[in-house]
Amino acid sequence: MTEQREVSLPRIIEIVTAARRYFFDEQMQRDVHMKGPVDFVTEVDFHVQAYLQETLRRAYPDVQFMGEEKDNDDIDFSGRVWILDPVDGTANLVHDLRASAVSLGLYENGEGLLGVIYNPYTDEVFSAVRGGGAFLNGKPIHVTDAPDLAHSMVVVGTSSNHRQRTAWTFDCFREIFDKSEDIRLGGSAALSLADVARGRYGALFQRYLMPWDYAAGKVIIEEAGGVTADFCGDPLSCRSNRPSTVLAAANETILREMQSIVNPDHKPADIFIREEDCL
Ligand code: IPD
Ligand code: CA
Ligand code: CA
Repeated sequence: MTEQREVSLPRIIEIVTAARRYFFDEQMQRDVHMKGPVDFVTEVDFHVQAYLQETLRRAYPDVQFMGEEKDNDDIDFSGRVWILDPVDGTANLVHDLRASAVSLGLYENGEGLLGVIYNPYTDEVFSAVRGGGAFLNGKPIHVTDAPDLAHSMVVVGTSSNHRQRTAWTFDCFREIFDKSEDIRLGGSAALSLADVARGRYGALFQRYLMPWDYAAGKVIIEEAGGVTADFCGDPLSCRSNRPSTVLAAANETILREMQSIVNPDHKPADIFIREEDCL
């Protein structure tokens, strides 16, 4: 059995931030491929993933690697696994909106051990190690002290490449808008989660996110004092290759208010999986 190397957060931050160069390579940015009708991937995504997969393998050979742009069928989620979105916000990158990020989590047996979200445009690094608090460029961050939804700005996302529940999604946006200060649409789930952790938004709602979209953000938000849940109010799973509806909030009160909007009947997992309500 391979010996487990202890993971060092400063070393991981150094590795992740070195991916910055790919985001500013205009040729790679313009080299766009289509995974679906509105599902983009660029050479930046492929190069960031290849660089991180190889660098992390050399530094921590015993840790498995899950990445959006690869096949992940052979992952054993009971062991340690990196969960990477090389570019979260690829549509933003394609449209030159300068709002994309690298999102890297480390999980073992479904438990988040570490999370790093890096915004290469602002050079902001959000990071957390389980039990050690959350940080933005080394300074502690905390969720907002807004007491409830009425006093919160909420960030939402459309999941544009999974349009099977658009009417329901926009009904939820409307109700969240009615019950909150206002809503915003970010285009990068990872950066939106980071913005909940740093206290800009009181909550986030987005359907159909994959573990690589939220693995790092979940650790960072929880270490910043916030809470996360899936459609049923259960912990977000990072033990599979399945999508989830993601709720994140600064506190339990706001989370419950959000839950009563998106799942007022408290539908259980077996029903929502059948009806695809969670997706
Ligand atoms: C997407 C972004 C976007 C969200 C999509 C995700 P990608 O990730 O997070 O905000 O709406 O659901 O797929 O494809 O840019 O890595
Ligand atoms: Ca993503
Ligand atoms: Ca991506």
